[in-house]
Amino acid sequence: MVETYKASEIEKTQLKGKDFLQLSDFSTDEILYMLDVAQELKGLQKQGKPQPHLSGKVLGMIFEKSSTRTRVSFEVGMLQLGGHAIFLSSKDIQLGRGESISDTAKVLSRYVDGIMIRTFSHDSVEELASHATVPVINGLTDLQHPTQVLADLLTILEHKGKLAGLKLCYIGDGNNNMAHSLMEGAVKVGMDISIASPAGYLPNGKITEKAIQAGKLTGSQIAVTNDPIEAIKDADVIVTDVWTSMGQEEETALRLEAFRGFQVNENLCKHAKDDFIFLHCLPAHRGEEVTAEVIDGSHSVVFDEAENRLHAQKAILKLLLT
Ligand code: CP
Ligand code: NVA
Repeated sequence: MVETYKASEIEKTQLKGKDFLQLSDFSTDEILYMLDVAQELKGLQKQGKPQPHLSGKVLGMIFEKSSTRTRVSFEVGMLQLGGHAIFLSSKDIQLGRGESISDTAKVLSRYVDGIMIRTFSHDSVEELASHATVPVINGLTDLQHPTQVLADLLTILEHKGKLAGLKLCYIGDGNNNMAHSLMEGAVKVGMDISIASPAGYLPNGKITEKAIQAGKLTGSQIAVTNDPIEAIKDADVIVTDVWTSMGQEEETALRLEAFRGFQVNENLCKHAKDDFIFLHCLPAHRGEEVTAEVIDGSHSVVFDEAENRLHAQKAILKLLLT
């Protein structure tokens, strides 16, 4: 059983200089420590106290896909920590005109103290990290969205007072970044996770197998099914995500058809625990993956979740860049 930690208990944890590419790269202690630091920084921010941990430090932020939350929360987070962030759209930098990832990594490492990247291929982020001499943070790939899930864990912890022993249910596209990072995050903190997806949209086999193994250390169970009612039964936390992720727009019509029956609506939520909370990383499509009644209803914590991107990422930045 995993307990929540106080920062002082695991100061031995060494995160300085590490990359943040996927949650499976971190131990349970390290993830709980990041959440602890996030809560400390959030408390200081709410009290209006300064947190100049990254004074004079600069984060380069490469975006090959759109973003509202990730861009703004990283930029504001760096500012609140006394540093600065530079927005680098791939449309404007030479990477978008064919400069290699390795040259980009080496050049940016001479200027900045950390690089955040949002892109398509996860391999590109791994390649960037292998050539950069500063920490690289994954701000979303087709395969993983780890900063979002760290914020999700923080939100669940705040609302439920614990993580270990809870049941999280994810309904929708099992083969996307959110489903994969949620699996990796849940098993690290001792949460059970059930995923309901249509045939053809099940989670990546390798990531699932690795998560099942990681879950054996914390007592987490992973269940994957095609039946949303079975998956949501007695869930403490319900999560969904868009049916068509960025880069998949041509498949929209096909996906609308495939995911019919996987909408999170009030009827489906009746099978969860009475005090369930609802999370969605946003942006959301009301009337598709979730109804307005659920996402705008009393169980929804989506705006706390969005706010927690800021606090969780400040913890990542503080721990990796100082
Ligand atoms: N949830 C999330 O990553 O939002 P953005 O795409 O707006 O950054
Ligand atoms: N799965 C979504 C997440 C957006 C934050 C996408 O990749 O578009």
